[in-house]
Order: sequence, then structure tokens, then C-alpha cells
Amino acid sequence: MTGPGTTWPAPRWWRTGGYDISAGGELTLNGASLSALLREHGAPLFVYDLARPAENMRALQGALQRAGVTYRTRFALKSCPDPRILAVLRGLGAPGAPGSVGMDVCSPGEVLHALANGWEADEISHTGTNVSERDLDTLLAHPIHINLDGVSQVERLGRRAPGRTVGLRINPAAGAGFTAALSYAGERPTKFGITADRLDDALAAVERHSLVVDTMHFHAGSGWLGDQLGSFESALRNATRFLDRILAAGHEIREVNVGGGLGGVARDDEQPVDLDAYAQVIREHLAPYGVTAAFEPGDFVMKNAGVMLAEVVSVERRGGTTFVGLDAGWNVDCSYFIYKYSKEILTLADPMRERTQLVTVAGHINEAGDVFAEDYPFPDVAEGEGVALLNAGGYLAAMSSTHCLRPMAKAVYLER
Ligand SMILES: Cc1ncc(COP(=O)(O)O)c(C=O)c1O
Repeated sequence: MTGPGTTWPAPRWWRTGGYDISAGGELTLNGASLSALLREHGAPLFVYDLARPAENMRALQGALQRAGVTYRTRFALKSCPDPRILAVLRGLGAPGAPGSVGMDVCSPGEVLHALANGWEADEISHTGTNVSERDLDTLLAHPIHINLDGVSQVERLGRRAPGRTVGLRINPAAGAGFTAALSYAGERPTKFGITADRLDDALAAVERHSLVVDTMHFHAGSGWLGDQLGSFESALRNATRFLDRILAAGHEIREVNVGGGLGGVARDDEQPVDLDAYAQVIREHLAPYGVTAAFEPGDFVMKNAGVMLAEVVSVERRGGTTFVGLDAGWNVDCSYFIYKYSKEILTLADPMRERTQLVTVAGHINEAGDVFAEDYPFPDVAEGEGVALLNAGGYLAAMSSTHCLRPMAKAVYLER
């Protein structure tokens, strides 16, 4: 029950990595005052911690190494095509070096972007949906690896590039995701991947065009946390049934790509994925096949590497609800608008301020759905104060638009 006088403690989960509180009580990132950055650059502003993407990728690689998994990591480019971030990931290893990070791409534009930012074609893995003949014009012009996600794609690529080495993206009919919308497979068929009832048709098309299948790919969904490791494992178990059938058809599978999907905590009561337990699950199910396990995380690498700053422009009661209005909109942070996933929001001047009310945090786009959080415990806040929307490093900048001719957010980058 809530009512007058109810309070909520300030969240604490975010106090890791470069986030801290200054002697004056202000929120800092890598020692920099976020209030000062907001004053200097204006809202909306993304602030990236350049150390985090590397730390996150190394954490995953470390767990895989400890578990004795033969692995390959690629970065899901769609989560952050920003060249400054890509330079950090490129810096983790030269092409082919241990610990280097390849590229997971999903469109011709991403292929060209990866090449332009220093990736070699053989480090690039394309897994796309509803790939057109025009898309194939670009994809087939480069010696990248292509995973085919439907019988039609196998047929059309096979006609144009007979004999090419490819992968098959399957639909494991089980998924894991932070919300139902972020689960990419389940009982109801989704648009991704070759379903069990179509695998023979896909393999027949492979045969017809003399394609060589060296990879099986699946992606269970995005943003899943520690409590969904079992759901991921169900998807992986189902995927190995496809693998058995592909192997029985005579294909030498060298890589099983388990997609991305690892989430990051955003609340005090959420459990992070235990990376060692994840690596053990991978090892248990894939080691018997002697394949390389491939990973293509996006949000896990980027999510906590960025924060979005905005200013409170209005605080107003409407029909019994307090609306906290920001000078930022869903055009730069669509996570609640699209996924109903609300970010933790901190006041920059005093992030540990006790939370005294349930509010709706709304944006400056002329749509009723332009909100960042509803029924969200928040402190008393004044117009003109700066706030930070945490975990804004993945996808948001890439998904931004100039809807209502509101500008996209600027970005600044902090070394640690
Ligand atoms: C095929 C594929 N791989 C990797 C990813 C990256 O997912 P995430 O950012 O959840 O790690 C996605 C996301 O949609 C995807 O569709």
C-alpha cells in the first residue's frame, strides 16, 4: 500500500564501474560531474564511459575461457554504430588475434559500416531478416559470412551464389527476453529463423544449390537476466535438436552461434546473469559437438556504458498524477515507448535523495505515449534540475530520430 508519507529508498545497484558520488553529493561518471556536462552541452545528452564496453566484453570472454569453451565473440553493431565505441572494441584485438571482437551485422548498411570502421570481411557475420534481392547485391559483393534465416533466403541466395559457405538461422521455438516483446522465439511462431517443420525444405534448398553449411545460428531474445538462464537453456537444448538433424544431413557444422541477448540489471531487485553459469550451460550442451560457440552480444556490452542526461522542465499535478516533464523525448530514448521498459532515473545533484512520490516521467514529443516511466518512485524534484536516465548506452542513440524536428542527442565520451 502506498499513501501520503510513503517513501522508497534511493536505488543503489548502479554504484559500480565509473559511477560515483562526489564529496558534494553529485552524480559523477569517471570522475566527471554530469551536471557540469549537462550545463556545458545541453540536453538531451548521451555520456559514454569508454572503459565499459571493453570491460563487459572481457567479462564474457573471461567466463568462457574459465569454462573451457572454444568461443568467438562478435559485437552486435545495431546496438551502437558509434565510431568512437567501435574504436574501443577494435582495440581489443587485431583481426584474428585472441580476444579480438568480430562484427554481427544485419543489413547491407551495417556491412559497409563495419568495413569502414576497420573490420575485415571475414570477421563479419550477417544475420538478417527479410533480406531482399537488393540487399543481396551488397552482401554477396563481400566475402562475409551470411546466416540464412528462412527457406526463401536459402533459395534466393543459393540461386545467386551456388556453392557458397553459409549458416542457417533456426527458430528454437523457445525464447528468453526481458519482456515478452523481447523474446524472439516461443510457442507462437515469430518471423525469425527456420522452424523445425521447414528444416527439411531448407536443407533440400541447400542441396539444390550445393551450398556448404558450416554454422547454425539462433537468438533466443534480448535483455534476459539471471532468472532466465533456464529459459535460454531450453532454447539451446531445442537448438541442438536442429543441430542433430543438420549433422545427420551430412553438413560439417563448425560454429554454433548462440546470438546475443544477455541483459544487464536496472533495479536493486534484479539478478545479473551469472556469466560462469552461462558459460557452463554452453559448454554442457555444445562441447559434445566439438563446435566453436559464437556470441554476438549488443546490449550486454553497451547498456551500462552510457547514460542520458536531461533537464526537468516542468513538474505538474494532473488529475492526481504528478508529471515530471523532461527536455528529451522518445525520439532519443524509445525504451519505454516501444518496449515498456523504464530506466532508473537519478537526480544529478543528489542521486541518493529519498523517493517520496510515484510519478510519470514524460518527454517533449507531442504524443501521449511519450513517457519514460509510470508509477515510478521519485524524489521531490524542482524544475531546472538535471536528471540521468541510466543504462542508455545500447540501441537508443542508434534508434533515434528527429520526430517533431526535435534534435537527436549529442554525445560525449569519458575515458576512465
Ligand atoms: C541475430 C541477433 N544477434 C544479436 C542481437 C543482439 O542482441 P542483444 O543486444 O540483446 O545482445 C540481436 C538483437 O536483436 C539479434 O537479432
